[in-house]
Amino acid sequence: TGAITIDPGYKNTGSCKSAITFLDGEEGILRYRGYAIEDLADKANFLEVSYLLVFGELPTSAQLEKFENDIRKYTLVNEEMKTILEGFPRTAHPMGVLSALTSALTAFNPKSVNVENEKEMYEAVCKTMGKFLVIATWTFRRRMGYPLNYYDNTKGYVDNFMRLMFELPTGPYKMDSKVVAALDKLFILHADHEQNCSTSTVRIVGSSHAGLFASISAGVSALWGPLHGGANQAVLEMLQEIHDNGGDVAKFVLKAKDKDDPFRLMGFGHRVYKNFDPRATIIKKAADDVLTALGVDDPLLDIAKQLEKVALEDEYFKARNLYPNVDFYSGIIYRAMGIPVEMFTVLFAIGRLPGWIAQWKEMRTSKEPIGRPRQVYTGSPSRAFKNIQDR
Ligand code: CMC
Repeated sequence: TGAITIDPGYKNTGSCKSAITFLDGEEGILRYRGYAIEDLADKANFLEVSYLLVFGELPTSAQLEKFENDIRKYTLVNEEMKTILEGFPRTAHPMGVLSALTSALTAFNPKSVNVENEKEMYEAVCKTMGKFLVIATWTFRRRMGYPLNYYDNTKGYVDNFMRLMFELPTGPYKMDSKVVAALDKLFILHADHEQNCSTSTVRIVGSSHAGLFASISAGVSALWGPLHGGANQAVLEMLQEIHDNGGDVAKFVLKAKDKDDPFRLMGFGHRVYKNFDPRATIIKKAADDVLTALGVDDPLLDIAKQLEKVALEDEYFKARNLYPNVDFYSGIIYRAMGIPVEMFTVLFAIGRLPGWIAQWKEMRTSKEPIGRPRQVYTGSPSRAFKNIQDR
């Protein structure tokens, strides 16, 4: 087999060829299927971008309408899933519940999709997009003890997300179109990011020919961690902590630089972006716009801005090319929209879903072999077995 090269964290290892997302970390460029993220965030909507990622081309209006309708057909979730949901304590973290519910969907959709069959694949895509959105909002309803809502077929996908989350039996939910537009944009910015931790997880799980729901459930678990998608929750908690400690930003920057202190500035740094994260640039502006439009004055936004300024001028952060990433400002917007902090990473998951599906589909249709890295063994050499009474 020859010598094995170890690359911890796969920092320099390409795991696949992919035609979905282009990322240039030095230049801060991100494109989906060749289209600049700035254009997509500005001019397209989330389902349009989802279609683009999964099927490779921007949809025509007829294709987009059909896609939206086909997703709607799959937004009813089996009633028995509710029993599973109710089995969770209300205090359970929504990401754990989401991962488990996504996995549970396999029980109600046991037939695995034939990736060679275009129609079957298309239906699987719509089904996943439909059901995942609904169960994602269920994790919140369970937490709050609210009754579950059904998808409203007269409304759009992102609009439905807000209604499924917040509409109460006491009356219709007053939708703010600015909130829906901002959320749509945030979903687009999160929709794919080539071979990040959760996407690589989805691909590797799927490479054993495990089904789509099972692979995505694993992706949700990978996303949950604070070094990945969980950073958006961690950022807000950090900003709150700074605020509650008198807003001393410099003190926290000092802590982050201290190698004896495990604390890191959450929302800073990126494996690939070494100049700036183009998504963060768009989100920072969106945060300003949304807060102004909603008339929200959030002291945490001021703290975030101060923190960014101090860190960007600091030698430690400069030398290591550490910049705010996508998660740094997103939480501020979610908070202004009234989304509770434990749901932030669930929103990331909804945004990332089309990317996971597209990557899973690409991996299977390009007939990638099972993912199975090697290792260098560092354990004990061969030794004689000792009977239990002799140990
Ligand atoms: N605060 C303080 N120091 C940091 C930070 C940070 N946020 N990030 C990296 N460093 C330091 C790190 O200690 C190391 O220093 P040294 O060379 O002296 O040992 C150097 O910078 C390189 O860091 P690394 O950990 O080797 O880099 P990585 O590519 O393995 O990790 C990262 C990337 C994103 C996990 C890391 O920057 C981090 O933990 N950031 C905070 C969590 C975060 O915001 N995650 C969201 C990432 S973007 C969206 C997503 O993927 O979900």
